[in-house]
Amino acid sequence: LKQEALAKVTAAQSEKELQDVRVAYLGKKGPITEVLRGMGKLSAEERPVIGALANVVRDDIKAAIDEKMEVMAASALEQKLKAETIDVTLPGRKPKQGTTHPLNQVVREIEEIFLGMGFSVGEGPEIETDYYNFEALNLPKDHPARDMQDSFYITEDTLLRTQTSPVQARTMEAHKGKGPVKVIAPGKVFRRDDDDATHSHQFMQAEGLYVDKDVRMSDLKGVLELFAKQFFGQDRDIRLRPSFFPFTEPSVEIDVSCGICKGQGCRVCKQSRWIEVLGAGMVHPRVLEMSGFDPNEYSGFAFGMGVERLAMLKYDIDDIRQFYTNDHRFLQQFHTK
Ligand code: PHE
Repeated sequence: LKQEALAKVTAAQSEKELQDVRVAYLGKKGPITEVLRGMGKLSAEERPVIGALANVVRDDIKAAIDEKMEVMAASALEQKLKAETIDVTLPGRKPKQGTTHPLNQVVREIEEIFLGMGFSVGEGPEIETDYYNFEALNLPKDHPARDMQDSFYITEDTLLRTQTSPVQARTMEAHKGKGPVKVIAPGKVFRRDDDDATHSHQFMQAEGLYVDKDVRMSDLKGVLELFAKQFFGQDRDIRLRPSFFPFTEPSVEIDVSCGICKGQGCRVCKQSRWIEVLGAGMVHPRVLEMSGFDPNEYSGFAFGMGVERLAMLKYDIDDIRQFYTNDHRFLQQFHTK
């Protein structure tokens, strides 16, 4: 019996087979248990002999099974370790690194240029009150120009700002009627527009405001000409065209000359020598007054530029949606390092 059991232990190929051998020979229904159970029927002389023999056989079989179990477990572990070896000589995989979004790069560039001209950087809330977004900018409740900027209202009195111009009013209020005020305020704005290649319901503007004694239109022109040359290149010119905004008087739209083909026809200018980049003007006396500045003492200019517009012209990008869909192939081209 013992020889037979040991042979099966040797033959067992897996832990499961070994377990079966254990059950078959040492289990409750196995032959050894049977022998031990039958002891009562034996004579007093036979009992210790058979009992001792049965115990030895059981212990030997158990020891053989345990030993083989251990060997199997050890080899299983070894196999597992072998399968999981790490080849430390393989070159590492470089993780893909993010980079500053092209719009934020442009915003920073705008900020740098204006900081160089003595402006400071300001900001205002994206959720704005009707008062700051419209009223304080000389757009009373029933003003038709409110329709120019289809708004996302949150309540009757609050909305997502449609322009960065409310920062003008907030900044002037904070200065409590004392100049100079010289600030640039970039940020997100929102309009109820259907998105296409040139429209986005969310985009960015950079607002500029300079209020002081004796600020003149020629200052506006000088500052923006300097900006255009630094941002686009020294060969660029600007052009002022009369326009209308309720919060500036007079108002202008400013074009920058096409630098790539000089109007001969390229993706950017499509055969026009001038491209509109921003709205501007002399701060309306009523706007100065509403925000606590005496229009007899102070004057100022303001401008608002479309950040995407500037970025598209500078980098020859023909679809504004590129900035908001986060296609890695697009963003990768603006890696700075
Ligand atoms: N806020 C205007 C717009 O969004 C631009 C502007 C700003 C015009 C400041 C004049 C002065 O169209």
